[in-house]
Amino acid sequence: MSINTIGVIGAGTMGLGIAQLFALNNHPVVLMDTEIQILNLALERLKQYTNSVLSGRVSSLITTSTDIGNAKECDLVIEAVYEDESVKMEVFQALSKVCRESVIYASNTSAISIDKLATCVPNPVNFVGMHFMNPPKVMKLVEIIRGSKTSDKIIYTIRDLAISLGKIPVIVNDSPGFVSNRLLFSLIGEALHLLENGIADKEDIDNVMHFGINHPIGPIMLADLIGLDTCKNIMTVLYNDLHDERYKPPPILESLVLEGKLGKKTGEGFYKHA
Ligand code: NAI
Repeated sequence: MSINTIGVIGAGTMGLGIAQLFALNNHPVVLMDTEIQILNLALERLKQYTNSVLSGRVSSLITTSTDIGNAKECDLVIEAVYEDESVKMEVFQALSKVCRESVIYASNTSAISIDKLATCVPNPVNFVGMHFMNPPKVMKLVEIIRGSKTSDKIIYTIRDLAISLGKIPVIVNDSPGFVSNRLLFSLIGEALHLLENGIADKEDIDNVMHFGINHPIGPIMLADLIGLDTCKNIMTVLYNDLHDERYKPPPILESLVLEGKLGKKTGEGFYKHA
């Protein structure tokens, strides 16, 4: 199957990076969000994140729209809206009214069941999890999630596409948080419990994992980069689906989200960001 034009729904932290990655690899991209201001801001950020030689390619290949109807020309649509099951389901229901029959539907969800999201489209055989890491341009992994109905043809098409983007694809079965976030959020959750219980301050917790275990950044700084609202939503899905206390969003996370301190994207979370 040939995949040329890509639709990306959601122009936040991940949608922006996914659009950039595909454009850098010569794919036309339609980037969609709910408001024109969000899309304009996303394009401005893209210019900052892309060097001058490549920024021409990015500007010429990415078009933006607030109308999901523009997904009709796409061969693959990747949903990257809030980590909220009902928001995602609405998006897929809307997409299924405009997309052509052969389209591949992919979700960049961090934790939500691929099988559940696939119920929103007419042909769940064409539905797959395509989970990019943050930032998509830099991180090598693409976690491909096979739903119970996803066809082998779709899995292999997405695997080959990921390889063509210079990524390392890993294929896993559908399960809450898949492999990446089941592991990552047991670490982030535990780091936040250590912080909350006064065992060490955030810098020292991060330094232990950075200098002691050789992680490029510590788990609390990583939570800030992911976005604390997104972290809270991911932990809520894991906790509700697995009934495991490890994943219950800790009060310290809940209160920062309530204060609107969402990490790097708002300038402050556990840390202050320039
Ligand atoms: P974000 O909060 O930065 O951006 C979400 C975007 O979706 C916003 O611009 C919002 O306006 C837009 N949106 C919301 N409802 C919409 C709708 N109905 N139609 C069109 N656009 C809509 O979120 P982020 O961090 O980019 O996360 C997106 C998805 O990617 C989530 O499922 C998240 O779990 C996943 N993810 C996030 C990672 C991260 O490090 N932040 C890493 C990997 C996956």
